[in-house]
Amino acid sequence: MRVPRRQPPVVSHVSPSAVLAAARVAARRYAGRVDRGDEVVRSALSTRYDARAVALTDSGTAALVLAMRLTAPRGTVALPAYGCVDLIAAAVRARVRVRLYDVDPATLSPDLGSVRQALGRGADAIVVAHFYGYPADVPGVRALADAAGARVIEDAAQQAGGRLGGVRLGAFGPLSVFSFGRGKGTTGGRGGALLATAEAGAAAIGAVEAAGRAMPPRAAGWGEVVIAAAQWVLGRPAAYGIAASLPGLHLGETIYHPAGEPGPLSRAAAALVRRGLPHADAERLARARVAESLIAQLARVPSFHPVRPIAGGMPGYLRMAVLDGAGRRPAPAMGIVRSYPRPLAEEPELAPIIHRGEPDAPGARDICRTLLTLPVHEYVTLADERQIVEWASSVAMG
Ligand SMILES: Cc1ncc(COP(=O)(O)O)c(C=O)c1O
Repeated sequence: MRVPRRQPPVVSHVSPSAVLAAARVAARRYAGRVDRGDEVVRSALSTRYDARAVALTDSGTAALVLAMRLTAPRGTVALPAYGCVDLIAAAVRARVRVRLYDVDPATLSPDLGSVRQALGRGADAIVVAHFYGYPADVPGVRALADAAGARVIEDAAQQAGGRLGGVRLGAFGPLSVFSFGRGKGTTGGRGGALLATAEAGAAAIGAVEAAGRAMPPRAAGWGEVVIAAAQWVLGRPAAYGIAASLPGLHLGETIYHPAGEPGPLSRAAAALVRRGLPHADAERLARARVAESLIAQLARVPSFHPVRPIAGGMPGYLRMAVLDGAGRRPAPAMGIVRSYPRPLAEEPELAPIIHRGEPDAPGARDICRTLLTLPVHEYVTLADERQIVEWASSVAMG
């Protein structure tokens, strides 16, 4: 049986040699031996993001939980009104209450007027996320947060090698959250990290170090080996149709999973991440070339507006984001999909922890209604680009 070609919306590069190395690390017996995988990843992240302390975790959500507990113990955290449900899961686990601020559809960066108002209503911390690698204005939010006495958590889960003003996304902080889950720029199958950057004070640096030390013993990570191997086998157009048809995988769906207690990065995930990080910049460059080619070809298509980076921004292009004003339908076979289906305010799990009377967020609603993401990963060919342009143009004409 021939499986129809189907483009994944996003690809995390995994090499077979990295999967084998991860399997070897998972299989090794560690009695009396030291595994340096963690140390290598910690040191690579410290250098890359100029960090002063790194805690490696079993997911980006776990790193967010730690960040929220450090900055807003039993307090209030402001979240973007558009975002992934993991933000809610982290807030529930961290036992914080939530306010929401709006996001600007044109840039996917925080709406600073709305941020000011949310901070004015009272928040101990604010999470700023870079969606699909498009830089969010962390310094702009930081200025408002400093004035309001709130702390900033930079959610760099989707940074994908992007920069703002030449600075790597994730290096702003003062606390930064990373994810090494599937569909991220650098993957460990599963995993995450919390960084205290150069901007963090001594107390935050000490707290992140302590959080890292307090983790339970590390797991071998066979699950991560399987996830990474599956990504390598099924994450390509010739096989992705099979993966997408397996109901158990829930690919492309937004499903709320309650967050567990934060745990450590597994040994296998560390092995994958340390082998993936050195390639992240070259992969970003390759995605940017595809994105720039598509932007040029789509320039004259009516009612189709690529999200534009804020001033000084260099997107990581985990995916290319466009705003569609003509009611185009997603084309999953081409990897063209919608992302989060509704604003966070409409997620039922938020109801018990959101402050009453949080205002509407029209930007977030607009994004959910009009945003489509186009694939720009390593498997997108020139023929795929032509198909995408034809799809965008024909819908506009029809
Ligand atoms: C913005 C953002 N923050 C946090 C997370 C959570 O990361 P993880 O899936 O590793 O728990 C994600 C995951 O998709 C994310 O997109």
